[in-house]
Amino acid sequence: MANESNKPHDKPTDSRYIAALEGLHDAFFLAMGKPIYAPIDLFQPGLRILDSGCNNGRWMNDLALTCAPAAHQYYGTDLLDVFFPPNPPENLHYSEQDIRNPWPAEWQGTFDFVHQRTVLVNARKKPIKDVLSQLTEVLKPGGWVQVMEGDFPPILENGPALREFLDLGAWFFDVAGPGREMGPNLKATLMDIGLHNSKDETVYVAVGAKLNGQPSNVVNGSIEGLCAAIPGSLDIIRGKETLQHTSLFDTYIGGGMEHPFSLDKLETLEDRLRTELLNTGGHLRYRVAWAQK
Ligand SMILES: C[S@@+](CC[C@H](N)C(=O)[O-])C[C@H]1O[C@@H](n2cnc3c(N)ncnc32)[C@H](O)[C@@H]1O
Repeated sequence: MANESNKPHDKPTDSRYIAALEGLHDAFFLAMGKPIYAPIDLFQPGLRILDSGCNNGRWMNDLALTCAPAAHQYYGTDLLDVFFPPNPPENLHYSEQDIRNPWPAEWQGTFDFVHQRTVLVNARKKPIKDVLSQLTEVLKPGGWVQVMEGDFPPILENGPALREFLDLGAWFFDVAGPGREMGPNLKATLMDIGLHNSKDETVYVAVGAKLNGQPSNVVNGSIEGLCAAIPGSLDIIRGKETLQHTSLFDTYIGGGMEHPFSLDKLETLEDRLRTELLNTGGHLRYRVAWAQK
């Protein structure tokens, strides 16, 4: 169970948030070409697979389709149970788990594959090494972990609104969480905690008009996935203490901290970003790292 102090101030199940994550999920799948880079044979039946910070389970559902007819047991965990689907198939199991806390004793050493995507900013100031060490304790010897997080060097081909948006993202990682270097450091962190065969890859995720040719719900989903992050971010910058429940920055942050942004400019960022992404699109950069126990 999550600590009471970590519970949301208000119910964060708004459909805009879930739609935003699903929009980005489609863009991630297209950019990566395959869901898992770790060299695990997904077609051997009966694997135990964990998705930490799974939200509504979309990643597990898509993976289950990719792996069919191989049937696996999927375990999805999140800080909040409010996202979990009400009647999941019997091989999909959901439970609450804060990534900062130890994992259930009965799970230790039992998983073949552990996945976590865009969740680590929520470690806040707890060292990433400790969070990943606890997470990978649930792996069997020989099991694989794959972690995917943002990487923020400026992408010069992006338009001004997307660059401004990504600067905002990098700033959040610095003030609220583990810092903007966390993604590039993942591979080294996995080695530091004693895992083997650690590798990483940079993935450029096309969004908006750069996805032209894809179904319109995928193109628009990627745009709204980013735009949905802005109102909550503005709340924080305006000094409102809030549960950030946006596509990129899910975390509890006290407002009112120093920031380098112009509020007037940020007020118009959502509209400018939507227009820019519709017209020219852009790219996000992520780091995928994987390693073996
Ligand atoms: C940006 S979303 C990513 C969701 C999903 N992994 C994906 O890639 O679509 C971050 C998720 O982490 C969850 N989360 C936030 N803080 C957490 C914590 N301390 N422990 C576990 N999950 C957390 C959020 O509820 C949300 O579902």
